[in-house]
Amino acid sequence: MENDISDIELTETVKHAKVIAIANQKGGVGKTTTALTLGEALTRLNKKVLVIDLDPHANASVHLSFFPETVTMTAHNLFFDDANYKTIWLQIVQKRATVGFDFVPACIRLSELENDLKDRKNKGMVLSNALSGITDQYDYVLIDCPPHVGVLLVNAIVASDLVLIPIQTDFLALYGIRLLFDTIKVLNKVLPSPVKFKALPTMYDGRAGACRKILNLIRRKLQDRVFSTVVHMDTKFREACASGKVIYAIDEKSRGALEYMQLAREIIRNEDA
Ligand SMILES: Nc1ncnc2c1ncn2[C@@H]1O[C@H](COP(=O)(O)OP(=O)(O)OP(=O)(O)O)[C@@H](O)[C@H]1O
Ligand SMILES: [Mg+2]
Repeated sequence: MENDISDIELTETVKHAKVIAIANQKGGVGKTTTALTLGEALTRLNKKVLVIDLDPHANASVHLSFFPETVTMTAHNLFFDDANYKTIWLQIVQKRATVGFDFVPACIRLSELENDLKDRKNKGMVLSNALSGITDQYDYVLIDCPPHVGVLLVNAIVASDLVLIPIQTDFLALYGIRLLFDTIKVLNKVLPSPVKFKALPTMYDGRAGACRKILNLIRRKLQDRVFSTVVHMDTKFREACASGKVIYAIDEKSRGALEYMQLAREIIRNEDA
């Protein structure tokens, strides 16, 4: 899909929170799991975190029992033409007793934005502008992106300081990933400061030779743009999802829980460096 991003107008925003877009146009690689688990891990390390579901399929929202048919105010409201961000943030930021972070749910109408924003000037800047009204309240804002390249992904990348790319360590992992890198490259030509990206190997199974090969290939190709943390396969993630919780509420000593805690520390450390 072609994105017309040539009309992005550059505006500087003063912000405090580090905004991390969790993106990969490949489906089922661990984006939503990363957004929710990393969000909770950072919260447990005393960081104030907002997780935004920007995927029209609303998987993160449903995971936390925000069912699209019952939620009226969502991330979609941020994209209204005459949005009053201050009021909207107050209405869309939700809390759940099962997690420590704040959350903005998604809805299927987000998928209409491709068409609705067609003629909007600076359509790639909408989320970035909206976030400037709230970033002073958080240490981290994590954006769970949809699995395709389009106006939502562009908005998330433009708004972010870091694009975290979960890459499933299987042999199709790198297929098609170039499109995402090309999108980041094109945006970096027009953004005031380039967006960084860093890959997170996920669903790793050290017993499988193919997994080990792919991990080596990812490290060789991307070098320091790969996190040291590797997230292994852990069935506890599916258990957590099925019970509407994050892995820390199921088993905080499980491998997956500890690995996302390690990732959270790595992210905090990188910021201090
Ligand atoms: N490390 C892991 N080990 C085992 N299962 C995992 C792991 N990470 C995620 N899963 C499971 O894999 C499935 C897909 O994960 P997830 O929904 O996070 O991917 P996604 O990239 O957000 O998918 P989509 O592109 O459809 O939004 C889920 O059932 C999730 O519970
Ligand atoms: Mg998802």
